[in-house]
Amino acid sequence: MSAQGVNKIRRRVLVAATSVVGAVGAGFALVPFIGSMNPSAKARAAGAPVEADVSQLEPGGILRLKWRGQPVWVVNRTPEILEALPALDPLLVDPTSEVAQQPDYCKNATRSIKEQYFVVIGICTHLGCSPTFRPEFAPEDLGSRWRGGFFCPCHGSQFDLAGRVFKGVPAPTNLVIPVHTYINDTTILVGEDRGAA
Ligand code: FES
Repeated sequence: MSAQGVNKIRRRVLVAATSVVGAVGAGFALVPFIGSMNPSAKARAAGAPVEADVSQLEPGGILRLKWRGQPVWVVNRTPEILEALPALDPLLVDPTSEVAQQPDYCKNATRSIKEQYFVVIGICTHLGCSPTFRPEFAPEDLGSRWRGGFFCPCHGSQFDLAGRVFKGVPAPTNLVIPVHTYINDTTILVGEDRGAA
């Protein structure tokens, strides 16, 4: 091949390589641009209400979602679970929810809008660990008084299936109930406050 031919090929290779670098560079430039665009829209999205569809949630089961970066749980309480709640009152720190850890419309015996569905923020009121869901009745490690609830393994705090804290554990208050409402019979909107509607 002549020297001229070789030079032509080199030029083409160089042009192609420059185009690739340019495309990659543009790609990298795009990411921070998108990341920084419209912060108020991002903030709105982060705090936006979250829908929980409980139509497929089996009796005794739990649905886990995230709202404002926090775990939110919905438990489908069976009639047996609901029947067991009042008997626990003498064992609890605040059985009637006097401390404002819930919206007014959940300051009742079941700490909920509908008795069946319990909506709660899954963060321990001691030092902020996330408790484990322990729905069993009287398991060996939690004792005969246990009627299902939330157990925080960090320092042993215990809450019943209305998020009420037991006496004698480090957590000082009941679990927090977030504002929420029902869009229909089986769809809950967490983060939206329409009273008990
Ligand atoms: S953080 Fe739950 S018991 Fe300490």
